[in-house]
Amino acid sequence: MTTQTSSQTLKLRSEDQPTTVKAVPLDKEIENIIRSSKNIFVGSKPSEKLSFGPDPEGLEILPTATRQRLEESGIDISKGYPSKPDKSKIPVYLDEAAAIRTDTYPFVERAKNADPEKKALLGAAKEVIHLTKHIGTEIVGLQLSELTDKQKDELALLISERVVVFFREQKLSPQKQRELGEYYGRVEKHPQAVRVNGLDGVSVIWSNYSTKKSKRPLTFKNVNYGNFNSNKYTGGTDDWHTDLTHENQPPGVTHLHLDAIPDVGGDTYWGSGYAAYDKLSEEFKKFLDGKKATYVSLHGYLDRNDPFAGPKKIERVHPLVRTNPATGWKSLFLNRKYTKRILGVSPVESDIILNYLFDVYEKNADIQVRFKWGPTKPGYGVSALWDNRVSIHRTVWDYEGQDERHGTRVTSLAEVPYFDPESKSQREALGLPLDE
Ligand SMILES: [Fe+2]
Repeated sequence: MTTQTSSQTLKLRSEDQPTTVKAVPLDKEIENIIRSSKNIFVGSKPSEKLSFGPDPEGLEILPTATRQRLEESGIDISKGYPSKPDKSKIPVYLDEAAAIRTDTYPFVERAKNADPEKKALLGAAKEVIHLTKHIGTEIVGLQLSELTDKQKDELALLISERVVVFFREQKLSPQKQRELGEYYGRVEKHPQAVRVNGLDGVSVIWSNYSTKKSKRPLTFKNVNYGNFNSNKYTGGTDDWHTDLTHENQPPGVTHLHLDAIPDVGGDTYWGSGYAAYDKLSEEFKKFLDGKKATYVSLHGYLDRNDPFAGPKKIERVHPLVRTNPATGWKSLFLNRKYTKRILGVSPVESDIILNYLFDVYEKNADIQVRFKWGPTKPGYGVSALWDNRVSIHRTVWDYEGQDERHGTRVTSLAEVPYFDPESKSQREALGLPLDE
């Protein structure tokens, strides 16, 4: 008797008596079943098709401004856009997924070379506008694609000090955007994210496209769920979070460039982790300093030893209060979406403390900036560069898919997070009052 499986042939004796057979790698068999199934999917949302590469369906809704930018940049969109990842390269098993980028990458903090006064950058700008007291600065009159290395180093310092820096009216190709990201660190190449054709590491941020492909699209009502428990109620990112905190070396400079911007709506918020830390009492800060927590991935993978238990997330341990190497300031390093458990305290204590810290970070409007992307000159995009190590962010999905909004994101991985007990908080370092 011969039983065919997807990749192996098992030979049994006619009398049903097993004979010595070639060892079947069970993991591989399960993996093959999973990979060939249209209904079982680990790694991301279920996809309709297992195809990959440029997506013709994306072209149906491609904003005119985006098409213009891609064509001007020489990106071939004749077969479709954006490029879907090859599902066969997405890990199925947790150990494989966790092993990606566990090597320690030698990170160079560019801000360390910068002139603290940032004369080359700020001196060349037409205008420098602080959007709020504690977070967010807009630079007017400079093109990101033309910055010198000296200006890039100073920009790195400014981003770390002000948390997020904006540039309007930018002529920026996806290639140039990736080049700038490479200057700031190893560019993260997300195995599951749709990307610009031929440009791994340039992720496409395009809610109307994901809504079109999703079996559970965002709605006016369900975007509310993310405020409570986005992992449980929705997979969307319209809630406060920090990108990729489960990485061994989570991102530092993260750069979103929007080339299609709604006339009204589609704003983005950022919150300052330095200021959130400084909102706490000095006693509570002391308690938190040196504590560690677990951070989980967005996507789930199968446990090799228990594949039928369903997808599990990658978990990484990082310090809850983190020192920023550019400024030397302490920052809360946590977010409601991915920070799961403070180590060394009970689960109940951990939940209560984390929920309080999330609230402090998310609810204090004086430590946040809300950025309105538009308007910009036709044919020009707008860039936001933030320090992902010291911030949380969220988008505002108020345009409900009725307006065009499309962007490209390049994320540069930074250092392995650390806590330096000698480091100061931002207010301490700047000599600002710390009274209750
Ligand atoms: Fe994000």
